[in-house]
Amino acid sequence: MSNGRRTESKLPDVGTTIFTVMSRRAAEQGAVNVGQGFPDYPIDPRLAACVTEALAAGFNQYAPMEGNVGLRAAIASGIRASGGREVDPETEVTVSCGGTESIYSAIQAVVGPGDEAIVFDPAYDAYDPAIRLAGGRCIHVPLVAPEFRYDWQRVRALLGPRTSLIVINNPHNPACTIATAADLDELAAIVRERGAHQRPITVLADEVYEHVLYDGRRHQSVINHPGLKDRSFAVYSFGKTLHITGWRVGYCVAPAELTRELRKVHQFNAFSIAAPLQEGIRLYLERQPQAARGVGAFFSAKRDLLRARLADSGLAMPPAQGSYFQLADYSGLGGPLADCSDVEFTERLINEAKVAVIPLSPFYREPPADMRIVRLCVAKRDETLVEAAARITAYTTASRRPGST
Ligand SMILES: Cc1ncc(COP(=O)(O)O)c(C=O)c1O
Repeated sequence: MSNGRRTESKLPDVGTTIFTVMSRRAAEQGAVNVGQGFPDYPIDPRLAACVTEALAAGFNQYAPMEGNVGLRAAIASGIRASGGREVDPETEVTVSCGGTESIYSAIQAVVGPGDEAIVFDPAYDAYDPAIRLAGGRCIHVPLVAPEFRYDWQRVRALLGPRTSLIVINNPHNPACTIATAADLDELAAIVRERGAHQRPITVLADEVYEHVLYDGRRHQSVINHPGLKDRSFAVYSFGKTLHITGWRVGYCVAPAELTRELRKVHQFNAFSIAAPLQEGIRLYLERQPQAARGVGAFFSAKRDLLRARLADSGLAMPPAQGSYFQLADYSGLGGPLADCSDVEFTERLINEAKVAVIPLSPFYREPPADMRIVRLCVAKRDETLVEAAARITAYTTASRRPGST
């Protein structure tokens, strides 16, 4: 019998994420889902065959806690091949349960009770709860609209003696922007200028879209920045680069001192990651070393297709710089739709146009009152993108006819 006492929630304000909610609603409504970020096309059959091979070869028991040795070596040589620094796979690479577990473990490793951590809004939703579960206080700093730029002066003004972590996401979901070399220099200066009596600042760089950059842009990683490489965790995801979000395999690259602390958490959290999946990915990277590097061109074509097909929709879509998303601003539609909040607009799209997209305001602690932007995922079959664009265009066109409500 219950004693009548209720469980006291450690995260009372946290519900089901907007991504899960929208995918569920899309299924209920029979809507085209360009909301949640996951591919709807098949994976490379050669990758699936590598996992079958790994299963048959006996990779069915606990993998090493730090990650499959060969996979970590492949990660280090991939970094070297793309012009990055020499990374020691033994002491600086840890395979995790998706990028999400690296984010969580890194935060638990360096944020303690009473510490402060800075995140930039709009922010991927995994950062804030992990900081609060560590006992830290999460300070949300808005990126400056309309271009979602960093305001480093504002960041400096918010630093305190207990600031222990700054989280950046580059390329950025959902802003679809990338950090510049000057941004990383500013961040490095903040880390460097820390006084002897203050908590040192660690950087957590969520770089899961490292290969998804458009129009000739180059990724600026903290792991190659002279002022950041010794103070940063960098987080990656095979889910994004090999189109396997459901396999939950990611990794963290960090200097040995930070990696040691991260592994202390990882060891008692995930412990180790699915052995046949790690070995399968290792085999695939050995046989298809260029696979990850092709994703920029692959998603660039999809971004361009979606933008072209929405050209007559009335939505403003400044081309995404990176990530596999594209933002759409509907404020120029005029009429009743332009008056809707982004959450209402999303509701109307799913109910009336049968298309699921993601509103931007759930990515904010305090969303701007006049938010009129939604996020679309381009990691979809061309037919999905074409159908979504056709439905959206038909809907926005009808809404702009005189007398429509
Ligand atoms: C910015 C960002 N970080 C981290 C993740 C999580 O990656 P994973 O699915 O590998 O846990 C995602 C996934 O959508 C993401 O968009």
